[in-house]
Amino acid sequence: MPNRPYVIDEMISAKSIAARIEGLAKEIKREFAKTDKLVVVGLLRGSFVFIADLVRELDLPVEVDFLEASSYGDAMESSREVRILKDLRGQIEGRDVLVVEDIVDTGHTLSHVTEYLGTRHPGKLKTIALLDKPSRREVDFRADWIGFEIPDEFVVGYGIDFAQRNRNLPYIGKVRFT
Ligand code: IMP
Repeated sequence: MPNRPYVIDEMISAKSIAARIEGLAKEIKREFAKTDKLVVVGLLRGSFVFIADLVRELDLPVEVDFLEASSYGDAMESSREVRILKDLRGQIEGRDVLVVEDIVDTGHTLSHVTEYLGTRHPGKLKTIALLDKPSRREVDFRADWIGFEIPDEFVVGYGIDFAQRNRNLPYIGKVRFT
């Protein structure tokens, strides 16, 4: 738990993340080339660094909105029951939407969020996650774009926290208890 001492071992460098985002942005620009104004929805709070870097690589007209869904709290395990804590400010009916997430783990969060947003009849509804832990999946969900597949490790940095700490690391690191 958070008050157990731990160290962080670098897993994905800031440079590798930047290079991967450049590549992802090219694919996303192709997908939404004909979109009038793309709504990019960041899931709070873990995606805030990723969405900031991603939208700056997308030279497309974009609107940025945020949604907060309940997740781990201070624990290392998903609660599995997903609730919407903060909804979008804008309308998405008929609009193309890209949902930006930090990690797909069990899959409950993104599958719930896409189902929820789908009821508002958007145009295209696509998802991107910086990290994917496929071995942890409990529901059948695949994001449209993934930055990196990682093994079943608890990671922090680049916006991702452990009990609200370590979000400001510029790289992704894995937590190792000492
Ligand atoms: P899922 O609903 O199990 O797919 O969980 C997704 C959410 O769990 C992510 O948005 C993260 O907030 C959190 N999460 C999953 N794995 C990790 C991790 O390794 N470190 C920190 N948060 C994680």
